[in-house]
Amino acid sequence: MSRKFELQPFEADQAAPADLRALYELSVAALRLDRPDPVVLDYDDWVASLRQLAPSLGPRGYWIARCDGELVAKAVVYFPPKENEHLALTEITVAPRRRREGVGTAVLMALLPELEARGRKLVEGWELSKGGPGAQWAVGVGMRISKSTIAQTLDIRDVAPALWEVPAPDGFRVAEWVGAAPDELVASYARALHVMRDAPAGDSEYRLAEWTAERVREAEARHRERNVVQRVVVAVSEATGEVVALTQMDLYTAYPEWAVQQDTAVIPAYRGKGLGRWVKAHMLRALLAERPSIGKIYTNVNADNQHMIRVNGQIGFTTSRSTVGVSGEIAELRRLLG
Ligand SMILES: CC(C)(COP(=O)(O)OP(=O)(O)OC[C@H]1O[C@@H](n2cnc3c(N)ncnc32)[C@H](O)[C@@H]1OP(=O)(O)O)[C@@H](O)C(=O)NCCC(=O)NCCS
Repeated sequence: MSRKFELQPFEADQAAPADLRALYELSVAALRLDRPDPVVLDYDDWVASLRQLAPSLGPRGYWIARCDGELVAKAVVYFPPKENEHLALTEITVAPRRRREGVGTAVLMALLPELEARGRKLVEGWELSKGGPGAQWAVGVGMRISKSTIAQTLDIRDVAPALWEVPAPDGFRVAEWVGAAPDELVASYARALHVMRDAPAGDSEYRLAEWTAERVREAEARHRERNVVQRVVVAVSEATGEVVALTQMDLYTAYPEWAVQQDTAVIPAYRGKGLGRWVKAHMLRALLAERPSIGKIYTNVNADNQHMIRVNGQIGFTTSRSTVGVSGEIAELRRLLG
C-alpha cells in the first residue's frame, strides 16, 4: 500500500461532487463483488440513502480513506445509545481493485483511536458473508466470530398470496398501526417487545433494549426523525386486552421497492398457537394492499432461531446468504495491530 494513506471524516452534504461519485462507484463495485443478492441503487437514490440512517442504531460516523489522493475505502460506524454505549457497529469496505494490499487493516488501525475517543470498548461487524473476505479478514486482524445469522428475502413475485391467508387463532384479535402505538396498547406492546431478549443472539455484545412505554415512544420519535415509516401488527388477547404477539416492518423512502422485516415476538405463554405466522401473514397482506410497489422484503435472523426460520419459510422467505457477526475489543485490537 502507498505510504500516503489518510482517513478523513466524510459529510455527504459538504462533499465535492467528484468524491460523491467516486464513493458511489466504490460502493456499487463492492456490492456486486461481495453480495449474491446486491441491492444496487441508481446514483440519486444512493445519495438519498446516505442521508437516511437506521433508526435504532444511534448516530453514525462516516469516513473515507485515500491512498495518494485516490479513494480506496469507506468506513461506516454506528454509535448505538444506552445499553450499547460500549459498542461501535462498524463496516469497512475496500474498493475491489485495492484489496489484499493492507488497506482494510490500515483503515481499522486509523479508526480504532476515534472509536475509543468516543468511549467505545468493542467493535462489532454484522451480516458479513460466512467464510467470505470480510469474515476472513476480521478473524485475521484478531476479531472473533460472535454470531451466525442468515439473510432471508421474500420476493413478492415468487410467492402465491394464498400463503398469507392464515386464519385467526381462537381468542385473539389483530390490531395494527403506522408510526405510533395506540395509548391503550403501548404498555403491553412494550412488555411483548421485551421478550425479544429471549431470542438467540450468539455471543454478540449487543444488548437488546429494556423496553418500557417511554422507550417505545422514543423509538417511534427516532423513526419519524429519520423519515423511516414503521408498521406494526400485533395479536391482542380477547381475554386480557393485552398484546401477546407483534411484528414490525420498516419502510425507507430511499428504498421504495424494499421493506425491512424487523422484530417479531410472541410472549412465551402464547407460543405454539400460530400467532407468529398469523401476525406476519397479516402484515404482508396489509403492507402490499397499501404499497403495491414493494417487490422484496428483507430480514436477518439468528441461524439458531429455528422457530422464526420455519415461520419465515411458511410465508415465502428464502435464505439468500449465510452471514456472521464479528466482535473485537478495541484495546486488544490496537495491541495486536501495533
Ligand atoms: C474485508 C475487507 C475490508 C478487507 O480489506 P483488505 O484491504 O482487502 O484487507 P487487508 O489487505 O488489510 O487484509 C489483511 C489480511 O486479512 C486477511 N484477508 C483479507 N481478505 C481476505 C480474503 N478475501 N480471504 C482470506 N483472507 C483475507 C488476510 O490474512 C490478509 O493478509 P494477506 O493479504 O497478507 O494474506 C474487504 O475485503 C472488503 O471491503 N470486504 C467487503 C466489506 C466487508 O465485508 N467488510 C467487513 C469489515 S466490517
